[in-house]
Amino acid sequence: MRVIIVGSGGQLGSALATAVPGATALSRTELDITDADAVAAFDWSGHDTVLNAAAYTAVDAAETPEGRVAAWRVNAVGPANLARAARDHDLRLVHVSSEYVFDGAHDGPIPETAPLSPLSVYGASKAAGDIAVTLAPRHHLVRTTWVVGAGGNFVRTMLGLAGRGVSPAVVADQIGRPTFATDLAAGILALLDADAEPGTYNVTNTGEPASWADVARAVYAHAGRPESDVRDTSTTEYFADKPAAAARPSNSVLDLDKAAKAGVVLPDWRRSLAGYLAAG
Ligand SMILES: NC(=O)c1ccc[n+]([C@@H]2O[C@H](COP(=O)([O-])OP(=O)(O)OC[C@H]3O[C@@H](n4cnc5c(N)ncnc54)[C@H](OP(=O)(O)O)[C@@H]3O)[C@@H](O)[C@H]2O)c1
Repeated sequence: MRVIIVGSGGQLGSALATAVPGATALSRTELDITDADAVAAFDWSGHDTVLNAAAYTAVDAAETPEGRVAAWRVNAVGPANLARAARDHDLRLVHVSSEYVFDGAHDGPIPETAPLSPLSVYGASKAAGDIAVTLAPRHHLVRTTWVVGAGGNFVRTMLGLAGRGVSPAVVADQIGRPTFATDLAAGILALLDADAEPGTYNVTNTGEPASWADVARAVYAHAGRPESDVRDTSTTEYFADKPAAAARPSNSVLDLDKAAKAGVVLPDWRRSLAGYLAAG
């Protein structure tokens, strides 16, 4: 497999670059996926697979006038540019998306076939990207949730609060599963190794679904702080003084059966959280 990773500087991109040492890893400055001319002119020869880890992930900033433009460029126009290149050069295209393409109203784990119903600008821009990549004949659209990797993220924020002795109120009515970037990278490679049919696959860590407050409590426990330091709050209460914040789905639990049938099962999120925290 001769792989190109785009968006290689992010949480998932850097995990993919580590997981595929021989890959050509391109940061935004090396290939801006929103630049149709640059994507078309790129020398794709000698490669057979493109892994797209590039995205605009600032969910609340996407609600601003500037953010809306940026989110649509990176999350919709960018994947369309890559889909065109994949089609023209017969490349496999792996694109990564989010449960934010759904409204969270689904009862139970959300299957790949659920209708798109985004609540936010970020979710709508990701949904447009999902549609665009399906135009590449050899696409794998991988939807995931609550990514935790290198750099700033929810787990690191909670770890910082625990270290400073803060007792935070954390949202308890959004339910999902954290997905560790190293596990997701391994899952994507396993999907390709298994020669899984082109199409859409939900890939997240496994384990009992949890709220953000539950995840925070697990972080506090690892940090040697009492779990009771984390107080439950509701989405409505938490965002009461943040009226410009994006709407978030309450159900972020993706149905993992299809990936499992293709042989891709990630570890329990609590086990991966322990490994992530132990690694420092
Ligand atoms: N984070 C989550 O909780 C979450 C949840 C569900 C799904 N996802 C999806 O998972 C994927 C990976 O997310 P992540 O958390 O790894 O994101 P991330 O850490 O925000 O990384 C995104 C990367 O994309 C790069 N990028 C932005 N615009 C670009 C452009 N025009 N051309 C090339 N690269 C560009 C960024 O570079 P700069 O730093 O230079 O801007 C950054 O390195 C995304 O598709 C995201 O939508 C994420």
